[in-house]
Formats: sequence, structure tokens, C-alpha cells
Amino acid sequence: MLPAKLALTPLRVAVLASGRGSNLQALIDAQASGALPINLVGVFSDRASCGALERARLAGIPAHAFAARDFAIDGICDREAFDAALFDLIGTVQPELVVCAGYLRVIGSAAVQRHHGRMLNIHPSLLPKFRGLHTHAQALAAGEREHGASVHFVIPALDAGAVIAQARVPVRADDSVTKLAARVLQREHPLLIACVGLFAAGRIFLHGSDIFVDSRRLSRPLQLQADDTLREKGSE
Ligand code: GRF
Repeated sequence: MLPAKLALTPLRVAVLASGRGSNLQALIDAQASGALPINLVGVFSDRASCGALERARLAGIPAHAFAARDFAIDGICDREAFDAALFDLIGTVQPELVVCAGYLRVIGSAAVQRHHGRMLNIHPSLLPKFRGLHTHAQALAAGEREHGASVHFVIPALDAGAVIAQARVPVRADDSVTKLAARVLQREHPLLIACVGLFAAGRIFLHGSDIFVDSRRLSRPLQLQADDTLREKGSE
């Protein structure tokens, strides 16, 4: 097993977010309570004003906004230039882990490669089901009985990197998109905290497209339990 990162040297974590920032808040709260040995070193957004930036400022975390329109040529964003500038700035805070928590832009492969094996995303579906947007509506339309969220390593293909862990919730007969989204979101927070905790403890790494946890290859995603711990399904 890899040595656990000492509590004296918390993992430097940068967060990318575009919206309300409840997953960011979960990380802020977990850091503040001592449940996560991390240091949130910066929050970065493609929106000038959003809940995530507000939450960062309130918590005293450096918050940075980048507008896609500043990188537009003939009205179309030069994605490579945008990503290069954004990730140059992210680089200045020297993160050991980048967490995409509701970041709504596709990140180009050059930027992804800069943090290969050190960038996680939380996605509101049981991947590989329902990549991209409108996952709750897709799950309802498909008649799913179970839905949830996944935390995965980011690779250049959208929502396609190796999945570390998932949280499952039931889909109910009277569900609406709003009700289902709320049920999933409630489990996203402990899921994200648990995955970042594994990373901060030095217990997880990506090798090729394989995930190793405690030096053992993961054959399927870990599952979030009712007590918010992660287990291999079916194990004790
Ligand atoms: C979450 O559902 C997350 O899984 C998805 O976007 C949403 C962000 O919510 N990627 P919040 O901004 O963290 O509240």
C-alpha cells in the first residue's frame, strides 16, 4: 500500500465549477471539519458570477473567473486558447488534484494531459450510462429503476474515464427530473468526499486505463454505502 499522505501536508486541490457549487461546498465543509486532509487552493469557473465562486470567496479560497467570450474569434470560442490560459492559471496554484465539480465545459485533451491521473469529475449518472447533459431526464425516459452518480478520472473523451466509485439511488414511479436530481445530488456529496479522501490518502492511482486502490486493480467501481464509506459491491 502506498504511504498515506500525512495530515501535516494536506493535498492541494483546485476545483473547476460552473454553477451552484454544492459539491464544492461539500469539499469546503469536509476540509473545515477535518474530515478531508485537503487544502482547497483555488476555484476556477467559466462563469463570471456563479454560486461556486461565491462559496469560494465566503470560505476565503482564491476564486477566478474566465469568460469564454474573451477567447472568441468571430464569435466562436478558441477552446485551446481558453483551456491553455485557464490551465496556466490553475498551474500557478500547484494543485496535486483538480476536481471538476459541475464544470460545464468540455476540456480539451492538451489541458487534460497536463493533469493526467490527477483530475476527477463527478457526473450525475451511473456511467457508462448517460454521458453528457440531461442525465436525469435520460434516465427517466429510459425507464431506469436505478440511477445515481459516478466519480471518474478525466480523459479527453467526455465522461469516459475510468470510474472510481458510484452512488446509487432508486428511481420512483412518481419521479420528476427535479425530484430525481435532488435524490442523486444528496448522494453526490458523500461520494465526492469519499473519492477525494482516497486520493488524499495516496490510496488510489490511475495506470493506463486501470485504477489501483491499495495497489489492487479495481475490476469494477467502488460503491458508496449507506454509511458513506466506499466498498467493492458484495464485499464485507
Ligand atoms: C452535479 O449534479 C454534478 O454531478 C454535475 O453538475 C451538478 C453540479 O452541481 N456535474 P453543484 O454545482 O455542485 O451544486
